[in-house]
Amino acid sequence: MISQPTSSLSDLYLNFSIFVHINYISIDNVQYYEEKLYECPVITVQLVNIMDKGQHYEVKDLKLAEQGLMNIELAESHMAALMVVKKRFEKEKPLKGIRIGMALHVTKETAVLVKTLIAGGAQVAITGCNPLSTQDDVAAALAQEGIHVWAYKGETTDDYYRYLNHIIDFKPHITIDDGCDLVSEIHKKHPNLISDIIAGCEETTTGIIRLKAMQKDKALKYPMIAVNDNKTKHLLDNYYGTGQSTLDGILRATNILFAGKNVVVAGYGSCGKGVALRARGLGANVIVTEVNHFRALQARYDGFTVMPMSDIVSNGDIFITVTGNKHILRKEHFQAMKDGAILANSGHFDIEIDLKGLKELSENQRRMRPFLDEYTLSNDRRVYVCGEGRLVNLAAAEGHPSEVMATSFCGQALACEYAVKNKGKMMPEVITLPEEIDEQIAALQLQAMGIHLDQLTDEQKKYLSSWEEGT
Ligand SMILES: NC(=O)c1ccc[n+]([C@@H]2O[C@H](COP(=O)([O-])OP(=O)(O)OC[C@H]3O[C@@H](n4cnc5c(N)ncnc54)[C@H](O)[C@@H]3O)[C@@H](O)[C@H]2O)c1
Repeated sequence: MISQPTSSLSDLYLNFSIFVHINYISIDNVQYYEEKLYECPVITVQLVNIMDKGQHYEVKDLKLAEQGLMNIELAESHMAALMVVKKRFEKEKPLKGIRIGMALHVTKETAVLVKTLIAGGAQVAITGCNPLSTQDDVAAALAQEGIHVWAYKGETTDDYYRYLNHIIDFKPHITIDDGCDLVSEIHKKHPNLISDIIAGCEETTTGIIRLKAMQKDKALKYPMIAVNDNKTKHLLDNYYGTGQSTLDGILRATNILFAGKNVVVAGYGSCGKGVALRARGLGANVIVTEVNHFRALQARYDGFTVMPMSDIVSNGDIFITVTGNKHILRKEHFQAMKDGAILANSGHFDIEIDLKGLKELSENQRRMRPFLDEYTLSNDRRVYVCGEGRLVNLAAAEGHPSEVMATSFCGQALACEYAVKNKGKMMPEVITLPEEIDEQIAALQLQAMGIHLDQLTDEQKKYLSSWEEGT
């Protein structure tokens, strides 16, 4: 019998007295070793993750560090705005003595953020915020540099939460979250730590939705800075970043031709707008589904067809969910899809495509290649799911390009500085950074790109601050 990966080798030592180490194998890019455990008279075979472990890290393979360091260097060369912040932090040390616990996608760009915070005087511990988004080479590079890091691509749910708890054990003064799992875990299981937490920073829309629900229930106990709500985050990262990288993920998983396809984009928010625009750019016929009147109107005026999912489902070739909501694609839809339909999700959690429902309808399931699963339904039609329904841009590709993450992560770094400066003055609610900080980030990025603006003349300044002048 081959079981799922178990939690740790030590568990096995406790449970079984004898085992023989047999073989190395790889599943979904995660390496396991196969062990035979002899328990007379039955022989059991267990698969156990092999991780490189030390006191301050648990990563897939430290030997990947060299590649990780080169990728981080490449990211740095495209994140000039963040490098300016890093340089200032090196001099001013605004985060001196601050412990920062992060649950963010462990990518090369996040590594640049980690190095920026450390340059500012902080101690940092990091884990992932999604089981499929870690770049193993980057995690190895961070571990090799002595940074506290627990993450690998393909984490089990047990490991995901075990790692989150390593971050909690680090006793952070500031938390940085992408999706609110760290904050939620602290509030549910470690409320004793909250008195020492200055603030938290949240990176994504889904996290903000959860935090606002916590605030409404009066469950939120420390201030949370909604970094996602910076204009230099959601209007750039969600739009241009998710737009490009979502298609990148689908292309790497399938190598499908977009031109001439009916591409259905569910959700016309900051991300969905970007995805729809880029799909059209590749020659697809894009159809948008929405539940919000204004967003539907925007989609229509932007030139897309808008209709309910039930009306388009039998004609769609590629379906992309990016709503932050659950079960956008469900049983009634799978049954109506045409043979060969491709499904991908770029929303934060793997709940937008009802995979459990799809499995229940399926007579056969095969992994065709990494990040592409085929489901054969009882009507003999095949449906293909990219990246196990997890955010396809990080599961099947590398996430957003570094340039766009530069402004997002300037937001994170400056939010940490803001939290320290305003320690004790912020209420336990979801707050946004002052407009000037957002402006400063945009200015840094423009400067990095060598783009100059016009300046208001004195006459224009006077006109804009007066009311007397009219028709
Ligand atoms: N993949 C990534 O790298 C990445 C990056 C940023 C954000 N995100 C995530 O993407 C999701 C969307 O983020 P956003 O910033 O675009 O949010 P948003 O709130 O701006 O947009 C979401 C849109 O989905 C619509 N919607 C909700 N339920 C729907 C339904 N049943 N059918 C059709 N439309 C529906 C909403 O009306 C809204 O217009 C979130 O989960 C966010 O965390 C992912």
